[in-house]
Amino acid sequence: MQGWIPLVPESASTFSWKVDALYFYLSGVTLFFALLISSVLIFFVIRYRRRTPYEIPRPIAGSHKLETIWTIIPFIIAMTMFGWGARVYFDQYQPPENAIEVYVVGKQWMWKLQHATGQREINELHVPVNRKIKLIMTTEDVIHDFFVPAFRTKADVIPGRYVTIWFEATKTGRYHLFCAEYCGMNHSGMTGSVIVMEPREFDDWLSGNTGSTTPAAAGQQLYQTLGCASCHGANAGVFGNSTQLESGQTVRVDEGYIRESILNPQAKIVQGFGPIMPTFQGQVSEDQLVQLIAYIKSLHAEGPTPVTAASPSPSARPGASPTRNLK
Ligand code: CUA
Repeated sequence: MQGWIPLVPESASTFSWKVDALYFYLSGVTLFFALLISSVLIFFVIRYRRRTPYEIPRPIAGSHKLETIWTIIPFIIAMTMFGWGARVYFDQYQPPENAIEVYVVGKQWMWKLQHATGQREINELHVPVNRKIKLIMTTEDVIHDFFVPAFRTKADVIPGRYVTIWFEATKTGRYHLFCAEYCGMNHSGMTGSVIVMEPREFDDWLSGNTGSTTPAAAGQQLYQTLGCASCHGANAGVFGNSTQLESGQTVRVDEGYIRESILNPQAKIVQGFGPIMPTFQGQVSEDQLVQLIAYIKSLHAEGPTPVTAASPSPSARPGASPTRNLK
């Protein structure tokens, strides 16, 4: 499965050509200057060679004009690489809102994946073609690196935090998934496949693989059993908002913030609250953290209405005090 240029992997995502274009630009600039400098070097060696044994070269005092030119031109070229590279990077690391979410947990030496609909996979990821897929990734042990060459998708997964990237596959097929960060003895065996399917096939695959609860439902269970609900109620529809901290800072409530607040609650305390929440470090696994976060996200998706013990609507209780239902 090769592309039209040897050694370049097949191109199967919307990012492929963007990464390739940048790569060819870098190669082109490198090649151009390598040829320019080596040919000028050879020319000068011949042109200014010593012709008599006692020849003394003419002293050269330097040239500000020349030095300015060969500083400014490379600077401009370097900045085009920086600007272009940053653009491609930000594209890839800023998932769009409407992407399908998949949780990825790396572990010596396998990839554990879970779809938002609950299906779990190991070393395989099934996705529909032409749909945006957001990966929310972390690791249970050491640093691994999620790498799908055909998509030009590659990101380190780092203990203790979430890394999110996204991709959109443009061709159906089976593509190699590698771990691209040395992670111990069986690093070279930490491989798998991404299987890109037609949307209808994908739906069939999804419905044929039910049986596990969704991460959000499992998270709701945990929310109750860990006793989160006793303080936070079920009214945690804060995901995606910004919140003001005691320290005066403002943070965005994202996966990383929720994770930190569960494991290290004293790190960022919301304004108006005391530092009374206990840590859950060591009590919840990476998988369970993912579930709790999925649950908290689902509350946001459904709006701030509590999902447990739904209170009757005002119309159902004509006698109820209106203030009780103020939201
Ligand atoms: Cu995991 Cu290398």
